Amino acid sequence: MEEITIIGSGAMALYFGGRLAAAGVKVQLLGTWEAGIEAVRRKGICLQEEDEMTAFPARAAREGSELAPVRLALVLVKSWQTKRAASQLASLLAPDGIALTLQNGLGNAEILRKALGEERTAQGVTTYGATLVGPGVVRPGGEGLITVPHHPGLVPLIRILKKSGLNVRETADLASLVWGKLAINVAINPLTALLEVKNGQLLDSPAAVEAMGLAASEAAAVAGKLGIQLAFEDPTREARAVAEATSSNVSSMLQDIRRGAPTEIEALCGEVHRRGDSIGLPTPINQLLYLLVKAKTDLIKDV
Ligand code: PAF
Repeated sequence: MEEITIIGSGAMALYFGGRLAAAGVKVQLLGTWEAGIEAVRRKGICLQEEDEMTAFPARAAREGSELAPVRLALVLVKSWQTKRAASQLASLLAPDGIALTLQNGLGNAEILRKALGEERTAQGVTTYGATLVGPGVVRPGGEGLITVPHHPGLVPLIRILKKSGLNVRETADLASLVWGKLAINVAINPLTALLEVKNGQLLDSPAAVEAMGLAASEAAAVAGKLGIQLAFEDPTREARAVAEATSSNVSSMLQDIRRGAPTEIEALCGEVHRRGDSIGLPTPINQLLYLLVKAKTDLIKDV
């Protein structure tokens, strides 16, 4: 039986784990969230669609447990947990294994590459979304796409993902998609988190739409200066289209804020700002969004 290890126990880890387990793949989740791991051990991964809940059996262990080497790994932890996931994978991944990250933001693949080497690391981009309902329970956000680079080590992983009914495409220009998704994320995630609204509600405010456009355009400008051409021409229009297509979603950053968990702001606006700085391109909107989300997290902790 095919086997995949998923690093993470949050919404995306449960979503992909559930889809794979539903197709008969042996899924092992490795996470740090005690309640999440315990729930999967007891009931399996639960996908909640409308009023229906379906459970799929999966193994689950705490990160750091003694485990047999694994060949195929999907990295789906939050970006601030990547360093820890990388050091666990360094001792777990077989010499001919591969880890594919589908995380949001910039910097994750670099951390994994450093720990695992170029040959055992791949970065992809996904437009699938999911909402965490509770420990071990996730609500799928509809169909999406996983885009991966051409990498010989990914062949068995792609086959299993496709067999599980997930849409997978290969591309020769991953950087364009990584930065394209980043531009959308910096437009939607911080604003939904700060304003505490669903993605689609941003469109009800012309001021919010303008702010989205400014944030996305800054990210696109940094990409352009780095020689990366985005797959879309108008970042503002694209951000609006994604907010519309995902209108009923609670963005991952708002989900984090609501749980009182750290956000991925460092890997999103933080990276746009730092990379802009390093090439002499000011990104004041991303800097401000970065500071405001950090301030919000600090202040929530203090009440
Ligand atoms: O992080 C997220 O929530 C998603 O990437 C997106 C596209 C903003 C949709 O909710």
